[in-house]
Amino acid sequence: MDILPQIAALRARLKSETAVVFVPTMGNLHAGHLALMRQARAHGNCVVASIFVNRLQFAPHEDFNTYPRTFEADCDKLRSVGVDALFAPDEKELYPEPQAFTVEPPALGNLLEGEFRPGFFRGVATVVLKLFNIVQPQTAVFGKKDYQQLMIVRHMVRQLALPITIIAGDTARAEDGLALSSRNGYLSPAERDEATRLYRTLGELGREIRSGCTDFAALEADAMKKLVNNQWKPDYVAVRKQADLQLPSANDHSLVVLAAAWLGKTRLIDNLEVAK
Ligand code: PAJ
Repeated sequence: MDILPQIAALRARLKSETAVVFVPTMGNLHAGHLALMRQARAHGNCVVASIFVNRLQFAPHEDFNTYPRTFEADCDKLRSVGVDALFAPDEKELYPEPQAFTVEPPALGNLLEGEFRPGFFRGVATVVLKLFNIVQPQTAVFGKKDYQQLMIVRHMVRQLALPITIIAGDTARAEDGLALSSRNGYLSPAERDEATRLYRTLGELGREIRSGCTDFAALEADAMKKLVNNQWKPDYVAVRKQADLQLPSANDHSLVVLAAAWLGKTRLIDNLEVAK
């Protein structure tokens, strides 16, 4: 695997490649990231990963400084799944001057995650567009774990006519259902046991919907209460339409339940698609 910290060297390496598939990450790689790398392999003959902890998508009070950085172990994992090239710039390489041009997502970026993390999707969209311009892939793979992020990237690609096909990867989970996340490492052993409740709660909500309940507001409130009663601080539990993350009506069939909640000092997010 070629490890390339410089834009110019990456471009030179990729110059004669015809089918580049790109998987951007912030590192601290787990089995969910690696599943995306394997999936990428099926869509091209040159798999490029990136590792860059993007300051632009962290608010000043968030965990930018403490976000886990495990570069050597990440490289070993990427080699083990046959990634061809790793773009791993430092901040000076990607942001040599303050990033004054930014990508402002539409209203979709202000819902759900955007409501609780103002500016988050501006930071994500800006770095993803910049990485796309550097790597110039034909295809890029994003996880459904970050459902709203995937949707915003697809929307950006469509509206800005980027010649890139976006592929979605399913959420990889631990055996007890907890969605794999770099932030799971922040959990104490007791919190790690409790953490699985988030997915279980989404599952219960999904079953209620499939069995015909259409009082989504009541289901959301109920799920929030269950979390609160178990020492969680939920930001939201929301039943939305898969197509646009807007509020569903009783006869919408493709739904997704999304949740974000704090367990101690750790913020976890998860979602579950529900087809009625
Ligand atoms: P990061 O959180 O490192 O995630 C990188 C990619 O892995 C994203 O597409 C994310 O959705 C996916 N992913 C994370 N956990 C997953 C899981 N359990 N199963 C499947 N896929 C999973 O998302 C980001 O980084 C950043 O916002 C980024 C897009 C790199 C821009 O900075």
